[in-house]
Amino acid sequence: MTGYIDYSNTVLWKLWANLEDGVREGTHRWKQTFGLEGGLFSHFYRTEEAKREFLLGMHGFGLISSPAVVSAFDLTRFARLVDVGGGTGHLALAASEQYPQMASAVFDLPEAIEFAREFTAGSAVELIGGDFFQDPLPPADLYAVGRILHDWSDEKIRLLARKIYEALPVGGGLLIAEKLLTDDLTGPVHGHMQSLNMLLCTEGRERSFSQYAQLLEEAGFAQMEGRLTGTPLDALLAIKA
Ligand SMILES: C[S@@+](CC[C@H](N)C(=O)[O-])C[C@H]1O[C@@H](n2cnc3c(N)ncnc32)[C@H](O)[C@@H]1O
Repeated sequence: MTGYIDYSNTVLWKLWANLEDGVREGTHRWKQTFGLEGGLFSHFYRTEEAKREFLLGMHGFGLISSPAVVSAFDLTRFARLVDVGGGTGHLALAASEQYPQMASAVFDLPEAIEFAREFTAGSAVELIGGDFFQDPLPPADLYAVGRILHDWSDEKIRLLARKIYEALPVGGGLLIAEKLLTDDLTGPVHGHMQSLNMLLCTEGRERSFSQYAQLLEEAGFAQMEGRLTGTPLDALLAIKA
């Protein structure tokens, strides 16, 4: 967890000092806190050291949650998983371990892919650089998005979900790893704390199963199931009928 502790110390702690303005204006605090403008991930990756700290932070939580996320549903029927915005590859590695017959790949920004090499070395996980908003998605019958949707607005989620839906064959799936809020939005408290955190550092928020299901339905998905895993991230599987 040292990556996340470092990232909390150098970034989040300072962003939280401007919580009041964030809540009033409903937007992240990168400009106010660090004078940074431009694309969101140009902030997270503003230096090599900042990128490393952030991705190591994601990796630490991923090691705890990904084994539970990939085993929350029986994914045996899928032949090829592409983890979209897959970071260091912890979910793709957990999927390969749980489903040895499944090929798996990480699709992420080239600068993140470079860093993922050290974590996936010696495994069969394929690494593919690209931009999930701009570039075509590598083919798969199962896509995963872990802590991606909570970075973005409903509008951007609709675009990405639609793109994934169109890339899938009939019967293909989308596995989502996110902390799920309760459907009445009253909890859990750590989900709401994370939602405030997302307000301060991204364009997104945490959502409930029903809120995700609504967005996925708008993208065309027909069957959706959510599972609480008891780890920092829960799991949702949507199928293209
Ligand atoms: C919050 S991190 C989650 C990483 C990983 N899924 C995990 O759970 O550890 C968001 C990831 O999305 C990637 N990302 C952000 N914008 C992207 C884009 N436009 N195209 C591809 N990947 C992107 C980042 O590089 C980063 O790895």
